[in-house]
Amino acid sequence: MGLVEGKVCIVTGASGEIGSATVRELVKEGGIVYAGARRFDKLRRLEEELNNVRGKLFTNPLDVTDEKSISQFIDKVIKDKARVDCLVNIAGYPMDEQIWNKHLHQLREEEITRIFNVDFMGSFRCVTKVLPSMMKQKNGVIINISSNPAIAGHDKGAAYTFAKTALIGLTKHITREYGRYGIRAYSLALGNIKTHPTVRSLTKEEFDKLAGESPMLRWGEPAEVAAVIAFLCSDKASFINGQTIIIDGGAVLV
Ligand SMILES: NC(=O)c1ccc[n+]([C@@H]2O[C@H](COP(=O)([O-])OP(=O)(O)OC[C@H]3O[C@@H](n4cnc5c(N)ncnc54)[C@H](OP(=O)(O)O)[C@@H]3O)[C@@H](O)[C@H]2O)c1
Repeated sequence: MGLVEGKVCIVTGASGEIGSATVRELVKEGGIVYAGARRFDKLRRLEEELNNVRGKLFTNPLDVTDEKSISQFIDKVIKDKARVDCLVNIAGYPMDEQIWNKHLHQLREEEITRIFNVDFMGSFRCVTKVLPSMMKQKNGVIINISSNPAIAGHDKGAAYTFAKTALIGLTKHITREYGRYGIRAYSLALGNIKTHPTVRSLTKEEFDKLAGESPMLRWGEPAEVAAVIAFLCSDKASFINGQTIIIDGGAVLV
């Protein structure tokens, strides 16, 4: 019996490395996974790869900035399975070095809203679509992907920090308002996780310096994030609620 055996799980941002690791883990743990992203070719490849694994995987195009796309995606899940047990909001605006490296006083309002529209509003839109089902079922799990600068602050990437901080507010609000329906919510504050978009523009020196932010002196792997997600989606986490779980090898301690 897998950790999420038979649970209907929605994963956004499933074409990325953390997203696809999450899909692999949830499928391996017996979940029925609906995976969405804009790059459908990547999702098809994941589908082919997971063809023979226990559990089921369904892929559909999804743009979290587009209400219609979200409605089509989530309505299909509800039509097929009549429930949504878990929503994992992983979709995030791509790493844009230019925006990341801007000083706060140089940031344009449009750059902030562009990132906000994917990371925060995209998650918010998906949350509002699944809540009615979860309330009816009287259970559900919602996971929002934040990052450790939302807790500790940072001297770069302000626009990302703003959106990731708002996600922690979203999680806490869900917890307080919908806990009575048996709905649990979590924020995962990720540190340096080794994915291609994050490391591609780093020099060897920069890569090693960032590894040194953690006392473990290394980057995290997408699979290490996915394992936490599967646990939180499972009934084993039934009385943990609303928390921000930091996955960064001990870089930020609270
Ligand atoms: N890697 C790290 O060190 C790190 C640290 C802190 C937080 N995070 C967060 O972890 C999450 C995954 O990051 P990653 O490193 O795996 O990066 P990634 O490969 O760039 O993943 C981002 C995912 O978001 C999707 N996405 C972007 N815009 C979208 C939209 N409008 N609609 C639907 N999906 C959209 C992308 O898919 P399509 O382009 O196919 O749509 C992709 O699957 C992000 O939220 C990121 O902010 C990562």
